[in-house]
Amino acid sequence: MAPPQVKYTQLFINNEFVNSVSGKTFPTINPQTGEKICDIQEGDKADVDLAVKAAREAVKLGSPWRTMDAQDRGKLMQKLADLFERDAEHIASLDTLDNGTLYTTMYGCVQGSVEVLRYFAGWADKIHGKTIPIKGDFFCYTRHEPVGVCGAIIPWNFPAEMLSWKLGPALCCGNSLIIKPAEQTPLSALHIASLIKEAGFPAGVVNIIPGYGPTAGAAISEHMDVDKVAFTGSTEIGRLIQAASGTSNLKRVSLEMGGKSPNIIFADADLDYAVEESHEAIFFNMGECCSAGSRTFVQEGIYDEFVKKSVERAKRRVVGNPFEEKTESGPQIDQDQMDKILSYVEIGKKEGAKLECGGQRIGDKGYFVQSTVFSNVTNEMRVAQEEIFGPVQLLIKFKTLDEVLEKANNTQYGLAGGVFTKDIDKALTIANSLQAGTITVNNYSGGGANAPFGGYKMSGIGRDLGEDALHEYYQVKTVIVKVPVKNS
Ligand code: NAI
Ligand code: MG
Repeated sequence: MAPPQVKYTQLFINNEFVNSVSGKTFPTINPQTGEKICDIQEGDKADVDLAVKAAREAVKLGSPWRTMDAQDRGKLMQKLADLFERDAEHIASLDTLDNGTLYTTMYGCVQGSVEVLRYFAGWADKIHGKTIPIKGDFFCYTRHEPVGVCGAIIPWNFPAEMLSWKLGPALCCGNSLIIKPAEQTPLSALHIASLIKEAGFPAGVVNIIPGYGPTAGAAISEHMDVDKVAFTGSTEIGRLIQAASGTSNLKRVSLEMGGKSPNIIFADADLDYAVEESHEAIFFNMGECCSAGSRTFVQEGIYDEFVKKSVERAKRRVVGNPFEEKTESGPQIDQDQMDKILSYVEIGKKEGAKLECGGQRIGDKGYFVQSTVFSNVTNEMRVAQEEIFGPVQLLIKFKTLDEVLEKANNTQYGLAGGVFTKDIDKALTIANSLQAGTITVNNYSGGGANAPFGGYKMSGIGRDLGEDALHEYYQVKTVIVKVPVKNS
């Protein structure tokens, strides 16, 4: 598979591709080589202001978007899903070029985005209120109205798919958006901008501003005329976004942030299957996955065997060109992430964990890191408490269910968790007791457009996907009408 041709490098405001007000550009880098792919127009506060004006105009009362029938809103979204499907290979290859993730993974993610758009398109004409029998001679009903102008700040690990997770529920509820892709991965978002226009969305409904976090991102989260911001990324920046809401207009905030998710393997589990699933749980997407199974708890009876098999599996993992079919892992996203991962390897060694394999950079071109396994890890170590976001498996031994539950929950995070056992009682006890937003039993990869996703504790506020995601994007109005004649 050949890398794609890049066509769109400008900001997208009010259905037009435009240069940034400052005229500045920034490079986007190919993580396979460390070389520049192309320059992108760099948005900052002035551009966000223009985009917010367009987005406000698009949702004002009487606007084409606001007065469009709900069914037609759904049809437009279905049209956009069709275009995603038509261009799936191109979108996926732009993401692979930009972030180094396997083409097959990114292609699957574009198919996932199509499902998300279709799922939320189906909601467009099903978002409605209730009639409520309040006391007295009144007719009381609720309306679910759009929140208004929504900001979406997107990470680099699943660029097109994370964009669709914000786009779907925002559009079906009738909002307009300002989307800021991550500075590492602007390419797919700008192609998607062209599809927004082609599908026929009214001008200003979707605006896309590539740029950096502290400038373009902060301009969105601090803006007095943005009604809501949805974010996926680090807990550190999620905190800033929440704070910016507090010091500006108290905009709504939904956050999907870091994780250190426990994956618990009991001695009665199918060993080879659990080894393989636990391997994928952490090495999938080079460990750059918020819900990665980044703490693998293994019961003592099978611990040594599990370590041996996990090391064999990690050593077999093919790291290389993400466009090639046999490759299982590509490069990390950038120099910063690679350096962060390698520094955690040193921290793990100093803390007394045993480096079983990996731990080094591969070559001196691009940001490739060896598949790494540590045994003899304890839950108190920094490597087991802090998000590494890389291909580093941590194997922690436990004896009893109570012990593993206590340790698994002993983390500031709560995004996901897995359990492998043939005992239904153990499985459901763990599922009910883990403080996390998604629990998988005897697998670590299930999910879907209709299944809510989000975090407990410092992993998140609010939910993406499923019906629950809608609550983030509409507001409830209660209307009370005096009815002169008493109803029976
Ligand atoms: P980040 O949280 O800085 O970046 C995510 C998004 O936030 C990007 O679009 C970025 O431009 C934007 N952003 C950055 N600073 C901002 C600010 N002050 N105001 C508004 N927006 C801002 O994540 P980064 O630096 O790329 O990665 C650091 C760590 O974050 C990773 O090692 C990983 O642990 C975690 N992370 C988690 C993700 C997840 O899926 N939950 C995704 C990406 C990173
Ligand atoms: Mg950052």
